[in-house]
Amino acid sequence: MILITGGAGYIGTHTLVELAMANYDFIVYDNFSNSSEEAIERVSKIIDRDVVYEKGDIRDLQKLEEVFEKYSIDSVIHFAGLKAVGESVRKPLEYYDNNVVGTIRLLECMKKFECKKIVFSSSATVYGDPKTTPIVESFSVGGTTNPYGTSKYMIERILNDLYIADNSFKIVILRYFNPVGAHKSGYIGEDPNGIPNNLMPFISQVAVGKRECLSVFGNDYDTHDGTGVRDYIHVVDLADAHVKAIEYLNSHKFSSEFSVFNIGTGHGYSVLDVIKTFEKVSEKKIPYKITSRREGDVAKCYADPALAERILGWKARKNLLDMCKDSWNWQVKNPDGYKEK
Ligand code: NAD
Ligand code: UD1
Repeated sequence: MILITGGAGYIGTHTLVELAMANYDFIVYDNFSNSSEEAIERVSKIIDRDVVYEKGDIRDLQKLEEVFEKYSIDSVIHFAGLKAVGESVRKPLEYYDNNVVGTIRLLECMKKFECKKIVFSSSATVYGDPKTTPIVESFSVGGTTNPYGTSKYMIERILNDLYIADNSFKIVILRYFNPVGAHKSGYIGEDPNGIPNNLMPFISQVAVGKRECLSVFGNDYDTHDGTGVRDYIHVVDLADAHVKAIEYLNSHKFSSEFSVFNIGTGHGYSVLDVIKTFEKVSEKKIPYKITSRREGDVAKCYADPALAERILGWKARKNLLDMCKDSWNWQVKNPDGYKEK
């Protein structure tokens, strides 16, 4: 059985669906600090079976141990964490405590129960401002500009040191690029709090009439139209990468493992590319204005995903049109997200 920390969140719920389709058994562990039980119910609807879950915090070692005692857990997909960049600058201790200390508690528990397989959610943010693109996994990491990014970098280092000390661990780090989109059913999707920081949820809210105008943060970057370029990846493709990572860890080829993979499409799209595609699928005009650059933003960030294809047998299948279409479908069906949250 796989323990899914943070399984009620945006990427977690989509991963539950893909795991269920591949016939894996799992149990969700989430404190619902940024999600709701309703999201779990929606997953149950999609997969047509109950989802087993326990409410708890990854920093609560006693509760974690109870869960490991109760279920026979042989691997962990570790999504749980706080992820808002701006908030992390204002609340660094909360972010390091939740993300770093929480991960340490989880790893202690795994060690105690001889559960040695883990897939960890990292981020392309660990590359900081890359010298060139596409980004390969061997690029230097650590030039992070906010506590959120630094917490991801620190956890990667902790996992590496743990592996050096105990190479019976099998560790896969997935560095996500920009997850967007939603399950095609429109039952589950991204449900940001307040004013969205990220581009796709902001555009969706403008299209649905919840916000008036999108601010485009700078049009003087060295990119094809001057606006920032990113590697947007459909969340269902991203979810599938976790299924492939688990398959890989379960394969008998390796007795120990420490690997890092970029999870992106390999294509970079600008802010204006996304706006145009979204307008096409939604048949809505997206009013926007050009404003100054956002602090901490880089011009271009997109992956070379060849390693994940070669080793995990994983490749993104969905394009920008699919991503916009599914984001829009989710937004229209759930203008206020999960109401319960
Ligand atoms: P999310 O906030 O939707 O999901 C995270 C889940 O973890 C939530 O359900 C939350 O309630 C839970 N959680 C948080 N702290 C917890 C704790 N201490 N104990 C138990 N549960 C806790 O975020 P997401 O977008 O699904 O992201 C999942 C992971 O992927 C995170 O680690 C995030 O940093 C990472 N990531 C996300 C993105 C992105 O753009 N969404 C990009 C790169 C990496
Ligand atoms: C942001 C985070 C990053 C995190 C990633 C994935 C920052 C500085 N970085 O990255 O740490 O890993 O999300 O969740 O917050 N844009 C606009 N107007 C908007 C919103 C965004 O023009 O209202 C532009 C940005 O300048 C960027 C692009 O859209 O060029 C994508 O932005 P966003 O969705 O926030 O993702 P990242 O900046 O890649």
